[in-house]
Amino acid sequence: MPDTLTIIDNRTGKRYELPIEHGTIRASELRAIKTDSDDFGLMTYDPALMNTAACKSRITYIDGDKGILRYRGYPIEQLAEASSFIETAYLILHGELPSASQLAGFTQTIEAQRMPPPGLEQLFRGFPNEPYAMGVLAASFASLSTFYPESRRIFEDWNRTLQMHRVLGHAPTLAAYAYRHRRHQPTVPPSPSLGYVPNFLAMLFAEPGKPYTPHPVLSRALDILFVLHADHEQNCSTFAMRAVGSSHADLFTVMAGAVSALSGPLHGGANEAVLRMLAEIGHVNHVPEFIKRVKAGEGRLMGFGHRVYKSYDPRAKIIKRTADEVFEVTGKNPLLEIAMELERIALQDDYFVKRRLYPNVDFYSGLIYQAMGFPTDMFPVLFAIPRVAGWLAQWEESLLDPDTKITRPRQVYIGSDQRDYVPMAKRS
Ligand code: ACO
Repeated sequence: MPDTLTIIDNRTGKRYELPIEHGTIRASELRAIKTDSDDFGLMTYDPALMNTAACKSRITYIDGDKGILRYRGYPIEQLAEASSFIETAYLILHGELPSASQLAGFTQTIEAQRMPPPGLEQLFRGFPNEPYAMGVLAASFASLSTFYPESRRIFEDWNRTLQMHRVLGHAPTLAAYAYRHRRHQPTVPPSPSLGYVPNFLAMLFAEPGKPYTPHPVLSRALDILFVLHADHEQNCSTFAMRAVGSSHADLFTVMAGAVSALSGPLHGGANEAVLRMLAEIGHVNHVPEFIKRVKAGEGRLMGFGHRVYKSYDPRAKIIKRTADEVFEVTGKNPLLEIAMELERIALQDDYFVKRRLYPNVDFYSGLIYQAMGFPTDMFPVLFAIPRVAGWLAQWEESLLDPDTKITRPRQVYIGSDQRDYVPMAKRS
């Protein structure tokens, strides 16, 4: 069977043969299909890139129909069970699981990069009262480009690696700064004796100068959530990372773009929106009425549906288990009952079944975060910190890919034809 596609252009009767590679044709090959020499050539119209592979990648594999997610070939279920976020970050960045000494070296390197430059804290004092945490995170990443001007030399290997380690090391500290400034609390410096996740919890919740030991079950639960969120191939924020990065901007500016993309309620802001939705529903008895309104098009069931998963999101399954372990320590989140009833009804309702809408990663994660004492505006930040690993790997892969060019899609122009300027006095 030849790996080609034959196209007959009915406008001209001409026949074209296009090669098929990895189940794709090169969109640029369509440009040869023209009605005459003035014709620009055929393009595809794909507004949300729903059927366009914008890159080749070796990092994450998803089969949305079967509910499969793998990082570098390893199933998410195995990584959530046995790995840690820091080991998973190594895997995502380097492509292979580390040896014991590689993991120790990587951990040490990231720990050495926990402290952002001292001047950065000034920035936090300039925000208004109660600033939106994702806005603060985006701004602090963008401002780091001014502290590390050498980060513009993105094709210097050692320099790029250093900046990537800085991003991974600084991310939890920046998030903790945002959290504590919002509460008018003094910041807590990173603790050399604590690992990535326990140190993050300490920077958020410890009293300055006092020892803090996070509950091991809660710390492990957050570590698992970090593993689950570490990468998810070409989602909106990762695409932002690749697209902004394709202009060869420095890493910190590119990071600000990805954080901004993640902040929207259709993406990383969804876990926050789920909690607001559950609180609004208020009682399990109100669930049928809420579902009715969703089906009538008066809003969405937040935390349900996914562009890629058309079956149960494998991460949501793991999160549900983790939630049980967390609630044993913290007590049950009263909104859990409403969430479970929503899921029960939605999974047997024709509207959701037909559209293949299942709980996604955000449906239960917010409940865990709330039970652990995080305020809702921190939820997308808790998504952003681990996603840093994926963003970095995807950014570097894109930069080093000889196929990469500056992202510059085409458009179908449907505006006015040329017309003459009308002076103000002559306009009706
Ligand atoms: N509740 C109710 N109806 C929905 C939902 C939902 N959560 N999601 C999709 N639909 C319906 C749409 O109304 C549409 O119905 P129609 O065919 O009658 O018009 C159909 O399902 C297809 O929906 P689209 O919007 O075309 O699907 P798309 O792939 O563009 O959207 C998205 C995916 C954005 C995730 C969507 O399902 C959604 O808005 N979900 C709620 C927000 C959410 O949970 N986001 C988190 C995503 S996961 C992540 O980023 C980590």
